[in-house]
Amino acid sequence: MMFCSLFVGLTLVLPIASQQIYDIWTTSSDQKTLFQYKNLGTNPINFTDDASASASITIDANTTYQEMIGFGGAMTDSSAKLLSELKSNDSGKYWDLMQYMFNSSDGANSAGMTFLRVPLGASDFSENFYTYDDTKGDVSLAKFDVSTAPSYLFDIIKDVQSINSVIKVHLCPWSPPGWMKDSGNIGGGKFTSSYTKTYAQYLLNALQGFKNKGITAYAISLQNEPENENDSYPTALIPASYEAKIGSELRALMDSNGFTDTIIVAYEHNWDDAGAYPVEVMQDAGDSFAGAAFHCYAGNVSDQDEFHSAYPDKDIYFTECTGTFNGDWWSDLQWYMNNIFIGSVNHNSKNGAMWNLVLDGEGQPLLPGSTSCGGSDPCRGVVTLNSDGSYTPNQEFYAIAQASKAVIPRDENGPFGQRIGSTVSGSNNLVVTAYETKRSSSQDQSRYSLVVLNQGDETSTAIQFNGKNAEYTFPTGVTTLWWYA
Ligand SMILES: *[C@@H]1O[C@H](CO)[C@@H](O)[C@H](O)[C@H]1NC(C)=O
Ligand SMILES: *[C@@H]1O[C@H](CO)[C@@H](O)[C@H](O)[C@H]1NC(C)=O
Ligand SMILES: *[C@@H]1O[C@H](CO)[C@@H](O)[C@H](O)[C@H]1NC(C)=O
Ligand SMILES: *[C@@H]1O[C@H](CO)[C@@H](O)[C@H](O)[C@H]1NC(C)=O
Ligand SMILES: *[C@@H]1O[C@H](CO)[C@@H](O)[C@H](O)[C@H]1NC(C)=O
Ligand SMILES: *[C@@H]1O[C@H](CO)[C@@H](O)[C@H](O)[C@H]1NC(C)=O
Repeated sequence: MMFCSLFVGLTLVLPIASQQIYDIWTTSSDQKTLFQYKNLGTNPINFTDDASASASITIDANTTYQEMIGFGGAMTDSSAKLLSELKSNDSGKYWDLMQYMFNSSDGANSAGMTFLRVPLGASDFSENFYTYDDTKGDVSLAKFDVSTAPSYLFDIIKDVQSINSVIKVHLCPWSPPGWMKDSGNIGGGKFTSSYTKTYAQYLLNALQGFKNKGITAYAISLQNEPENENDSYPTALIPASYEAKIGSELRALMDSNGFTDTIIVAYEHNWDDAGAYPVEVMQDAGDSFAGAAFHCYAGNVSDQDEFHSAYPDKDIYFTECTGTFNGDWWSDLQWYMNNIFIGSVNHNSKNGAMWNLVLDGEGQPLLPGSTSCGGSDPCRGVVTLNSDGSYTPNQEFYAIAQASKAVIPRDENGPFGQRIGSTVSGSNNLVVTAYETKRSSSQDQSRYSLVVLNQGDETSTAIQFNGKNAEYTFPTGVTTLWWYA
């Protein structure tokens, strides 16, 4: 009897509770509202039969696209160093910042970043040049040691994991050891193809070294920006045909050493060559690579379609773009949403990530002598951490946070959001992406979320879903909202 009445009660309540919008996160162009949460409480926005708004966003939940893994940035040695200093100077503030970046629980006041890119060895944001085996000619890798990386790097990643159990770690080297290249140096030079097997073994050792430290990678790439060399910081030229061969060797080693669940990602370079380099890697060794990763520094986001149309079943990742100081806050935020945190997703990316998560107010510490982020407008971290321990989340942070909220699992360790169809009519100022996040239990309703960039004036807009309309006036800025159905 008890069971029966409870069951009747639920079936009566659920349809009423569904399709109302209670939860809204907003970042406004005037910065008066910065990733601010509003719960509409007793006055939710209802989906009704009315439709009077001037613009509309139509959600098509029956058209599904890629499953997301979330948003974030890179934990460079420099970012980890600053965070580690903050931890020893003021651990309360450190944990506040870490929570604000990485707590992906539903309802937390946090960006809930779930994607962490980690350089293997030195990048241009390290204290010095190093790889895990800088002993010239050590082809047996007897001297290999991931602990040539600073211990604070591993410590900080483990702190991230202690807050976020679903963080996806994507490892990527900035260069093979110098002795595997024609330059003999970590800065610049071209990979020597006779070291293909040695380098694959080096990368397997790196995966194992991280695993032994408690960090199991979601993904590994073989070379950051393989078409760029510069002797002022760790870089290497690795042609597509070489990358394909290294990937095949590494895939076989990973499969026989307990890394079947870790994927290999190709390319890791700019949009402009999306139709060539990564396509060639897939042609040569498609079985070994799950997909390709893109950066923002040349070409544009629609170039991702060249790769997608050639290999529609392969993953797309967007793994690097940096902010620079002295730009306009709102122009920057619009650019990030248009091109990465909405744009790249609408061009099939499963994630979106900025470069350094944390730097200081001068874009330091940069690798001594590196020309990569110099000049009058240095690279900016997602968060600026000042020497007095105060910190400022930058426009990059708000772009990530607004996107991340829409796709983080609704249930602890439950599914991430999956992109679904959305179209805009009646406005040229609205840029939108939509997701469905399924639940751990099929009894529970899905969360449907929207990320909306409004580049114009406030616009009253109908959100059309399953034949009903909910009306909301989007402020100039970025809005994330959701409902259950
Ligand atoms: C939506 O419906 C609820 C009743 O379910 C009502 O209390 C609320 O005021 C309505 N919201 C708006 C914005 O009219
Ligand atoms: C994340 O935030 C929630 C809500 O603020 C809190 O209850 C939870 O303890 C945090 N999780 C972790 C792992 O720190
Ligand atoms: C290295 O990069 C700097 C800055 O972008 C550039 O001025 C320099 O020419 C580059 N060097 C090489 C060898 O490409
Ligand atoms: C993006 O690049 C393609 C060429 O790769 C070009 O046709 C297109 O106009 C560019 N789009 C924008 C918005 O710049
Ligand atoms: C930590 O404190 C030291 C000594 O006061 C200072 O030099 C350093 O900049 C501080 N670092 C951070 C990130 O707060
Ligand atoms: C999705 O498909 C189902 C069944 O075909 C239909 O009832 C529903 O209205 C469709 N939903 C949308 C949003 O088109």
